[in-house]
Order: sequence, then structure tokens, then C-alpha cells
Amino acid sequence: MRKPFYVTKMDILLHGGLIKPSSVLIAGSCGTGKTTLCLQSLFNAAKLGEKCVYVSMLSESRDKIIRDLSSFSFYNEKLIDEKIKIVSINSDVVAKGDFAIFEYMNENVLKDKPSRVVIDTINIFEDIESTFDERPFHKFELRYFIQNLFQEFDENDILLMATGEIPASNIQSSIWSYIFDTVIVLGTDIEEQIPHRYLEIIKERGSDFTMGKHKFTITDDGFVFLNCQRNPVPPG
Ligand SMILES: Nc1ncnc2c1ncn2[C@@H]1O[C@H](COP(=O)(O)OP(=O)(O)OP(=O)(O)O)[C@@H](O)[C@H]1O
Ligand SMILES: [Mg+2]
Repeated sequence: MRKPFYVTKMDILLHGGLIKPSSVLIAGSCGTGKTTLCLQSLFNAAKLGEKCVYVSMLSESRDKIIRDLSSFSFYNEKLIDEKIKIVSINSDVVAKGDFAIFEYMNENVLKDKPSRVVIDTINIFEDIESTFDERPFHKFELRYFIQNLFQEFDENDILLMATGEIPASNIQSSIWSYIFDTVIVLGTDIEEQIPHRYLEIIKERGSDFTMGKHKFTITDDGFVFLNCQRNPVPPG
């Protein structure tokens, strides 16, 4: 089933929205707009009645998350708790290992039967130190752990969005790009000495999409695309 992204132009670029259930990676360097894009999508979905959960992996306080958000026009205090649950995983849970994370997700996220979930940011899973049987967690096990976690989200019919601290220049070779169904990267370019922000869809399993870099700005209304054509004219 297709579900709207609920950010203007994104559904055109994705040729009809996101597939639900599926996993979507929003990657980019710091300050490129990952959190803003995810939360804009979440608040707009919640406004239309969808149940959502935002999981901060950065041990941020709920107050700080709300403070950072409150200048945006899509922010609506009434939706918090009623439609959008905000949870923050403590770094202790991650350090305790893979089983502790599963337990946390089941208890704080899946139990509420949300329709959409944002995990901000996925890289924190790279810090898992031990397994449930208290032996060291090896790097090669990360992929299986994530696949098992995503399967749970899939079985619960959840549209999962996660941010990734992966610069645009590294996205093609990042292990995370292979795990997710859809990969969207945010970056900055300089054209005629003027810097600008861009969004590029790298892949969407099971669907076509509009390729290329799409310029946007971040305003009080969140993401605003400058121009995006469904069939961009090839260079030359
Ligand atoms: N109301 C606003 N108007 C214009 N720009 C804004 C506004 N609020 C935030 N920004 C800008 O949006 C940018 C992106 O912020 P965001 O937190 O979404 O990025 P991020 O990719 O999640 O960063 P990080 O990797 O540090 O978590 C920031 O550089 C900030 O300057
Ligand atoms: Mg962020």
C-alpha cells in the first residue's frame, strides 16, 4: 500500500508516496535537514489521524526535542502524546546490548501499534557492545540485528523512517544503504559560488522515482522545494 510522505513534492518525486510497510533512510551530514524532514512528515501524518512515534537515540530530553521543533509551522502541541509519542533511548540501553534494544522497542514503540515511526539516528546502533548472552557484539552481527528489528516493524505494518549520519559522498558504499528499502540523501552543493541544499532519492525498492538532485530550502514551514520536474531534461 502507498502512503503519502506528507511533504509537498515528495510524493511526486516518489511517484506516489512511500510503500507501507517499508524502511526509509534519510541520510546526510550534520545540519542537512534529516530531523526536520522526518518530523515534518510525522506531524502532517498525525494531523490526519495517524498514530506516530518519534524515537530519539541521542539521549535528548523531551523538552529539548520540542523546543527545537516549536518554531516550525507544522508543529502542533496538541498532537504530542495524543497522536505523536516522543521517546528517547538512553545510551545505557544501547550499551546493554541487542536484546535490551528489542525489549525497549517492543515496550515503548510497537506496543502502541503506531502507523509510522521515526528513529533518529540509526548510527547509534553501531555502539551496541554486547549480546543478550553477555558476549561481545561483533560488527558483522549488526546487519542481522537490524534486519530482525526491521522485520518486527514490517510485521506490525509500520512505515519506518530513520535518519543516518552518512555524508552524501559515502552513501553508495554505506552498509546502511543496502539494508533499507528506500534511501534518500540530503546534501549541499555550491553552484556559481552560491551554496544550496538538495535532496536526492538513491533507491526505492519496488517502485520508480524521479532521479537527480532537487533543490530545497528550510523555512519556518520546514522543507520547501525550489523547482522539481517529473521528467528533468538531461544535461547537454
Ligand atoms: N525555522 C527555521 N528556518 C530556517 N532554517 C531552519 C529553521 N529551523 C532549523 N533550520 C535549519 O535547518 C537545518 C537542519 O536542521 P536539522 O536539525 O533538521 O538537521 P539534521 O540533518 O537533523 O542535523 P544533525 O545531523 O545535526 O542532527 C539547520 O541547519 C538549521 O539551521
Ligand atoms: Mg538531526
